[in-house]
Amino acid sequence: MGKLRVGMIGGGGPGSFFGMVHHRALSLDASRQLVAGALRSEPQAAMAAAEEWGITGYPDYEAMLADCQSGKLQLDYVTVVTPNYAHYAPAKAFLQAGIPVLCEKPMTMTVAEAEDLAAVAKAGDVPFILAHTYTGHPMMMLAKAMVAQGDLGQIRKVEAWYNQGWLATALEGEGNQQAGWRTDPARTGISNCGGDIGTHAFVAATWVTGLSIRRVSARLNTFVEGRVLDDDFNVIGEMDDGATAIITATQIAIGYKNDSGIRVFGTKGSLEWYQERAESLLVRRGVCDETYWIGAGASFFPDSIAAYLRVPAGHHEDFFPALANLHQSLEWSIRKRRNENVPSPFAHPGVDEGVAGMRFVAAAVESSGKEGAWTAV
Ligand SMILES: NC(=O)c1ccc[n+]([C@@H]2O[C@H](COP(=O)([O-])OP(=O)(O)OC[C@H]3O[C@@H](n4cnc5c(N)ncnc54)[C@H](O)[C@@H]3O)[C@@H](O)[C@H]2O)c1
Repeated sequence: MGKLRVGMIGGGGPGSFFGMVHHRALSLDASRQLVAGALRSEPQAAMAAAEEWGITGYPDYEAMLADCQSGKLQLDYVTVVTPNYAHYAPAKAFLQAGIPVLCEKPMTMTVAEAEDLAAVAKAGDVPFILAHTYTGHPMMMLAKAMVAQGDLGQIRKVEAWYNQGWLATALEGEGNQQAGWRTDPARTGISNCGGDIGTHAFVAATWVTGLSIRRVSARLNTFVEGRVLDDDFNVIGEMDDGATAIITATQIAIGYKNDSGIRVFGTKGSLEWYQERAESLLVRRGVCDETYWIGAGASFFPDSIAAYLRVPAGHHEDFFPALANLHQSLEWSIRKRRNENVPSPFAHPGVDEGVAGMRFVAAAVESSGKEGAWTAV
């Protein structure tokens, strides 16, 4: 099996954050390699960033796609690591060309764009993974598998949260690149905190339980003066089967970094998982609690997860490998179509979760604007 050849859109140049994480994550297994990129919005900067990484550079994604279509460049998939406003167009163009996509979250700027992207991916039957990195953590995957096999019984309540403190002051006014576009409606969409990290909590609640949210009552706050969009996002949701979801995200919790996690309460037990302590999953049965630790070879992992475990228990396996697992899933779905002998990819979020996330944020914004009135998702 040769290495898969990967292209990247966005993510390059000094001061950029998540492109470097993708670069390392996709290189982790020595079966994928970044070969080309349109890494910045400004053509010259894009070419310079590609030169720095030693890959074939393109001034924009259109030029990279044109070379794919003419046969000059061969790519097995692309990863889109631009700010939110620049996810939809390149993702759609590559999907339409039949090239699989691993796209950053939130999937698009609007629900309509998300639905269109989902339709394109489905019509062409082209693999698509949405980069909710935390769903790549094996212990979060184990939580999903445990709920699916009925270990917790019927789910009654879910709490999912994401607390950060980095936007507790007007960092966007100090030239911070990441704060700048996240707080700008033209580049981020109708919600800052909800779209950026509320969608991580939303996916945790719905992906782990397999339940969807039917309607929401929400309170979005903007605490920092001069900011247009929310920096605090609080939602109560009615789920399928009578379960309740409490989904909160905030960027004004001073001292909190990436305090993301989930608790699930069912009729037979409860589970909890914390992103900042990602190697263990706690399951409470009522009398004794059980702590499951990550580690290759541990017998409690089903086959669907065992293939993703790289090192024995006691070693640190965290953020880069989690994102690498999303690349791994996309790689395996591509290779399966080529009849290569690879494990089955885990069901990481895709277009459906992307559409659901966009609808959820839109309903929360609408609900908050109506004093928390119950609003259909
Ligand atoms: N999955 C996760 O856990 C996670 C974590 C962090 C960020 N993200 C997502 O990654 C994306 C990027 O976030 P970031 O924090 O790295 O932002 P960033 O500002 O650090 O990086 C954005 C990159 O995109 C480039 N860019 C901007 N517009 C472009 C365009 N039109 N064409 C090509 N390149 C363009 C910039 O030059 C920069 O290299 C966002 O969608 C964000 O939500 C996801």
